Amino acid sequence: MAKSTNTVSAKKSDSKPGSKKETVTSDSSALLSFFVEELKDIYWAEKHLVKTIPKMTKAATSAELKSAFTDHLGATKIHVSRLEEVFGLLDEKIAAKKCEAMEGIIKEGESIIEDTEAGTATRDVGLIFAAQKVEHYEISTYGGLAQLARTLGKDDVAKLLTTTLNEEKEADELLTGIAENDINYEALEEA
Ligand SMILES: [Fe+2]
Repeated sequence: MAKSTNTVSAKKSDSKPGSKKETVTSDSSALLSFFVEELKDIYWAEKHLVKTIPKMTKAATSAELKSAFTDHLGATKIHVSRLEEVFGLLDEKIAAKKCEAMEGIIKEGESIIEDTEAGTATRDVGLIFAAQKVEHYEISTYGGLAQLARTLGKDDVAKLLTTTLNEEKEADELLTGIAENDINYEALEEA
């Protein structure tokens, strides 16, 4: 018994000595670097969405959904410039870092378009699914970033990120409403 416990604890302490040490020994500058890297990630994601949302709008059938996507394109462009403002407040160069997660979610959305028939409510259901996955990724990212900004004492940055966070939540709720009040039932009738 004792033997196996020792083995486990030895493995644990051996597994990531470098990364642990870095985190423990550094001051808030390591946290700030992490924060900036995450900003670059979401900046890439927002810019990518500016290119993607028009494709989703084009693929949608419902006028209500098309209009929700069009409105969110406008909001997304504002999110991009708000992030640029954040980089400025932090005195950091504006930079994007490829967000693998967002790329994956968007690819999934594209396959939904390919796999469903144009002009159907079923495709709209799929588009709402894809869009809500995007929104939830953004909500978790902006929620974490806003909280970290507060931790780092950057209240002006936290305020900007919270504004975007709230807009993402509103977009998500709007999509839920469109699905639950309308499109899901239209798709059911198609079946
Ligand atoms: Fe956004």
